[in-house]
Amino acid sequence: MIRLHCNPRAVRGVPGDAELSIVSLAAARAAHTEMSAWPTFVPTPLRSLDPLARSSGVAAIFYKDESQRLGLGSFKALGGAYAAGIAIREWQAQHPGGDLAAVTLTCATDGNHGRSVAYGARRYGCRCVVHMHEHAPPDKVAAIQALGAIVVRIAGTYDDAVRFAREASMRPNWLLIADTSDDVTDPTPMRVMQGYGVLVLEILETLPSPPTHVFVQAGVGGLAAAVAGSFAEAYGDLRPTFVTVEPERAACVFESGVLGRPATVAGSLETQMAMLSCGEASPLAWKVLERFADAFITIDDDAAVAWTRRLSSGADGSPAIDVGISGAAGLAGLQSALADAAVKRALKLDEKSRVLVIGTEGGPNPATPPL
Ligand SMILES: Cc1ncc(COP(=O)(O)O)c(C=O)c1O
Repeated sequence: MIRLHCNPRAVRGVPGDAELSIVSLAAARAAHTEMSAWPTFVPTPLRSLDPLARSSGVAAIFYKDESQRLGLGSFKALGGAYAAGIAIREWQAQHPGGDLAAVTLTCATDGNHGRSVAYGARRYGCRCVVHMHEHAPPDKVAAIQALGAIVVRIAGTYDDAVRFAREASMRPNWLLIADTSDDVTDPTPMRVMQGYGVLVLEILETLPSPPTHVFVQAGVGGLAAAVAGSFAEAYGDLRPTFVTVEPERAACVFESGVLGRPATVAGSLETQMAMLSCGEASPLAWKVLERFADAFITIDDDAAVAWTRRLSSGADGSPAIDVGISGAAGLAGLQSALADAAVKRALKLDEKSRVLVIGTEGGPNPATPPL
């Protein structure tokens, strides 16, 4: 089952100052300048899945493979660690001569953002306390602990963990490195999204031809906003059709599209796309998505699981790809759209379409990276 909602508020043209203050190519370049000096930084590959494109009836499928990003297993490595570095420099400016060992970085996570923040804490010699809800996957918990962070398990959902982290951060010398916030002026979630802009810069540099469509999976919407805003800035009126993809049971960005404002969805939010298990859309991300997301779709777990298997087994003659279920959700969204005649028509997908998807994470069992 796929659900589609087309966004009546979507516009063409370049972003204005309001959107550019949240995500911009200039901010992404600044993030790139900083991160490219990190010893483990290397650009990730953009793969052209030609046999799969042929069997799917489209001209091209470009797959940005984030499985090896900074040795941390997902694109999230770009956001939390970068924002943590800035927050730490600000703390140092306010506490001249202060000992970083007295600082605690904290956040909430489904798994990947927390790993990025824990990596940042280890780089800078701070403590780190990561809040994770009761259903967060054990391999993600272990990967965060392996970086020296303390994991606090929270009854409830990701959104409950977000609130716990915010409360915990009220303690002296605790710095909240959040990837979402109710406060649209909070600079930290903005910096997290600007860090994601690095992957967009790499895509823009390596794309053999401009895409006609981009499918990006959404949790709170931060990645989707970073990609949609940057493509709108780069291509203006000629930007690709931008589609967000979410699990049916945690579709807060989809609901935001329906309501026309940042939405909250209730329920357990349980999904095999475990990193997309978020019930409250980021109000900051929504500011960008409400103008530059053309459509929102939801997909079943079954589709994401099936496409994870297919990608990781190298089916269709494409090389086998290291991918987790949340990582395959963008491609599963594209394939679910192609399989539904009405959705395919509404999104104008045809044999001329060149589609960009982002493989946002690798499979389970991540190893601990070097600094
Ligand atoms: C693998 C993966 N893909 C996609 C997302 C969605 O990112 P966002 O929450 O910024 O929408 C996440 C978020 O944690 C993730 O870990």
